[in-house]
Amino acid sequence: MSSGKVVLVTGAGGGIGAGIARVLAERGWHVAVNDVSAENAEKVAAEVGGTAVPGDVTADPAGLVEAVLAISGRLDGLVNNAGIIRRGPLSDLDPADVDATLAVNLRAVVALSAAALPHLSSAGGAVVNIASMAAEVPQLNGGLYAASKAGVVAYTRQAAVEWGAHGVRVNAIGPGMIRTEMAEAVYADPVLYERRRALVPVGRIGAPEDIGRVVAFLLSDDAGYVSGQHILVDGALTQTLMRHFPQPGDTA
Ligand SMILES: NC(=O)c1ccc[n+]([C@@H]2O[C@H](COP(=O)([O-])OP(=O)(O)OC[C@H]3O[C@@H](n4cnc5c(N)ncnc54)[C@H](O)[C@@H]3O)[C@@H](O)[C@H]2O)c1
Repeated sequence: MSSGKVVLVTGAGGGIGAGIARVLAERGWHVAVNDVSAENAEKVAAEVGGTAVPGDVTADPAGLVEAVLAISGRLDGLVNNAGIIRRGPLSDLDPADVDATLAVNLRAVVALSAAALPHLSSAGGAVVNIASMAAEVPQLNGGLYAASKAGVVAYTRQAAVEWGAHGVRVNAIGPGMIRTEMAEAVYADPVLYERRRALVPVGRIGAPEDIGRVVAFLLSDDAGYVSGQHILVDGALTQTLMRHFPQPGDTA
């Protein structure tokens, strides 16, 4: 049943964002589906009974919020999900990759959240930022991405403190290994897939809907006293460092 509540999900034309859109629609949200690919935004919007608001999140954040308001008249939730990764060692990064990564992963989160704040505030709404486990643990050739996501986590904590008085909660989710286009080159290889799967204590690679269900919780009244958190949704992967410590009697 529709709740009448409206949520904007960025980068929702595929991957985790589309999973978030599907779960939120099932829970009664009207989903404004943003993506830089208009075709994919339209496709997912049609699938979830929502509205497509295509566009690059770095281009016109205020315009994006206005587009949602023009269609739906209100905004109760914002999910900053759009993200990109440019891989390479920190010593050898192309400045254009640095700018692009920070623009999509951090600057757009800052700008879009500020543009949404007055509307979320009048609706008693909430923001969920999709960060990453990489914000907590370094990743091979992913240092730039990790730094951008650590920025999102720090921003989330700060915004939660500043916006609590406005009645707006702000949280982040740190996905672990989720099968999407972002790393499909890895998951399409059955040997690599199995080697990665075996690292995860809960025994599986995550699905976009695993993230969507936690977003639904964080947007709901059940999370009314949760703000400023970075919740890792990784099947306990980030807790496994000490299991690699050699012990007396180990033969491997
Ligand atoms: N897949 C994972 O394992 C994983 C792990 C940790 C964090 N994340 C984060 O989750 C989020 C979603 O990742 P994903 O795996 O679904 O990636 P994906 O590449 O499969 O999907 C990202 C979507 O964002 C859109 N997008 C990219 N730039 C955009 C822009 N400037 N404006 C609007 N839309 C844009 C893309 O078109 C695409 O549809 C990202 O923030 C990513 O960093 C993913």
